[in-house]
Amino acid sequence: MIWSRIAGTGSYLPERLVTNADLARTMDTSDAWIQSRTGIKERHIADASQSSSDMALRACQAALLAANLPASEVDLIIFATSTPDQIFPSSACLLQAKLGIKGGAAFDVQAVCSGFVYALSIADKFIRSGQNRCALVVGAEVFSRILDWNDRSTSVLFGDGAGAVVLRADSKPGILGSVLHADGSLAKILSVPGAVSGGKVIGSAFVQMDGQGVFKFAVRVLDEVARETLAQCRLGITDVDWFIPHQANVRIMDATAKRLGIPSERVVVTVDRHANTSAASVPLALDCAVRDGRIKRGQKILLAGVGGGFTWGAVLLEY
Ligand code: UT7
Repeated sequence: MIWSRIAGTGSYLPERLVTNADLARTMDTSDAWIQSRTGIKERHIADASQSSSDMALRACQAALLAANLPASEVDLIIFATSTPDQIFPSSACLLQAKLGIKGGAAFDVQAVCSGFVYALSIADKFIRSGQNRCALVVGAEVFSRILDWNDRSTSVLFGDGAGAVVLRADSKPGILGSVLHADGSLAKILSVPGAVSGGKVIGSAFVQMDGQGVFKFAVRVLDEVARETLAQCRLGITDVDWFIPHQANVRIMDATAKRLGIPSERVVVTVDRHANTSAASVPLALDCAVRDGRIKRGQKILLAGVGGGFTWGAVLLEY
């Protein structure tokens, strides 16, 4: 039987660090409001010259190094992003060229903040079918480019960054199960409604959000999809060593952990340092917990994402 297994993780954060106090100097907000409502203390913001694929390249190089594999082994790239470098080619193809490789499949996945969980689930299917042997699965975002910095209700919530895993065919289990869902009737509660036509952006090119609507929906579906994934694998929450939910808001994560019955000591939290990096948030948190030694080989990790679409999903894996 062929399984897909994480051979290495990597991440990248842009150099520029923006604290809540920095934001309070340019808009009507405060460190106290942002921390108490979201748990966010600071976020990294990309340089004007950096694209999603530039950050993805750094995360993928770190993941390949951790896996001790050359880029030439990679025969599949799945790139989760809502802030691609350009309309086309896909950021996955641009990343492939930057890695100096060619020939393997490469495509983007657009599932906003659930993007990495979607991409990992898809890569698992490609590897388990025998079609591919070594995938780079990456989430990278420059959400700072689609924020209205005059809108305090959205701009304080997000940051930029990238996270990646090398997923390889293995005789030992890695990804144990995954579940993906979407409900397009909820498109309006979190969106960037603009489109490009005739050389112009038609409509708004900024994030628009019904914060409380997103909050309530996220807590419910993160709990539901986590349970559904555990049931698929015939495991319970007590079997899970680490829960890594989408890093949007510490209150959403606390409420989800409580509903699931997993103690907060087993939840990986990076939203305080990274803010919400959309498709990059889950692989960034995964890489942090691998590199600081919390996540060890053989442990069971539950990843869960939720985001615009609406989309949501979870992946259970043995690291
Ligand atoms: O990947 C998914 C992405 N989105 C999310 O995860 C968002 C989910 N939702 C949330 O995290 C929360 O709903 C927010 C953090 C966005 C907002 O928290 P809330 O407790 O739901 O606050 P609220 O929207 O009810 O706003 C409360 C007050 C309002 O003032 P009034 O009307 O009560 O006078 C806002 O104008 O807070 C005000 N406010 C702010 N004040 C200071 C909104 N943004 C800010 C701000 N600084 N940045």
